Amino acid sequence: MGMLDGKFALVAGGASGAGEAAVDAFLAEGAKVVSLDIQPGPKDGSRPPEHFRAMTCDITDKQAVDTCFAQAVQFMGGLDAVCVPAGITARKLAEDISEEDMRRIFEINVLGTMFVNQAAFPYMKDKGGSIINFASVSGIRGQVMRAHYCATKGAVAAWTRAVAMDWARYNIRVNAIAPMIYTPIVDRVRAALPESERESFEKSIGQAQRLPGGLRGADSLGPTMALLAGDGASYMTGQVLSLDGGVCMLGS
Ligand SMILES: NC(=O)c1ccc[n+]([C@@H]2O[C@H](COP(=O)([O-])OP(=O)(O)OC[C@H]3O[C@@H](n4cnc5c(N)ncnc54)[C@H](O)[C@@H]3O)[C@@H](O)[C@H]2O)c1
Repeated sequence: MGMLDGKFALVAGGASGAGEAAVDAFLAEGAKVVSLDIQPGPKDGSRPPEHFRAMTCDITDKQAVDTCFAQAVQFMGGLDAVCVPAGITARKLAEDISEEDMRRIFEINVLGTMFVNQAAFPYMKDKGGSIINFASVSGIRGQVMRAHYCATKGAVAAWTRAVAMDWARYNIRVNAIAPMIYTPIVDRVRAALPESERESFEKSIGQAQRLPGGLRGADSLGPTMALLAGDGASYMTGQVLSLDGGVCMLGS
C-alpha cells in the first residue's frame, strides 16, 4: 500500500531537482503524476507512461497553465495534490537590482506560484486537496546579494499562509517547503560566482547543516513531500516547513 494510492498529483517544475524528486516520490507512493516544466524532462525517461506524463509549460503564462491543468486532469482522471518547486534564483547587490530584474524574478517565483495554485482551485474546491509551494530560508532570514530572490520567497510564504486561510473551508491544504538541498540550482549559483568565492561557497553550503552528512540530495525531501500531498497531513495547513538538516531553527 502506498501513501498516495489512487491519488493524482501535478508537479510544476518536475524536470529537475526538488521537482524531479517529487515526481519520483509521488509515483513510488502509488500516485498518477504529471510534470509541467519550461524545460523537457526529467531526463531519465524510465517512468511508466501509463502513470506519468511530462508537459512543456511556462508557469508565467496563466492561459498555458490553465490549459495544461485541463490536459493533465484528463490524463490522470482527477487532481488531489499540486507541488510547485518551479522557480529561479539570481544574484546581485541590492543597489544594482533593476526594475526589470525584480519584475522577472517575481513573475516566475510569485506570479507563477499564484497561477499554478489558482489553476488547481476549480479541481479541488468540491473535494479538497493539497498544495505544496516552495519558499526558502532566504525568505525567512535574508541572504547576501539576493534581496530580489529573498523578497520572492518571503512573498511565497506569506501567500501560502493567506491562501491556506481562504481555502481551508474547501479542505484545500496549502503548505510550503523551505529546502536546502543539492540540485542543479546549486551548480548554477556556484558557476555564477567569481572564481575567488567558489571555494568558500562550497565549504559554507556543506557546513551549515546540524544533522550529519552535510548537504543532502533532493531525494531527501521525497518522503515529506509525499506526506504533505496525502492524507497523512490532513490536519496541517498554512505551514512553512524547513527541510534543511537544521540550518534554520527559528528562535535559535
Ligand atoms: N536547492 C536549494 O537548496 C533551494 C534552497 C531554497 C529554496 N529552493 C527552492 O526550491 C525550488 C526548487 O529548486 P531546485 O533546487 O530543485 O532548482 P532546479 O533549478 O533544479 O529546479 C527548478 C525547476 O523549475 C523549472 N522552471 C523554472 N522556471 C520555470 C517556468 N517559468 N515555468 C516552468 N518551470 C520553470 C526549471 O526548469 C527547473 O526544472 C525553487 O523554487 C527554489 O527557489 C531551493
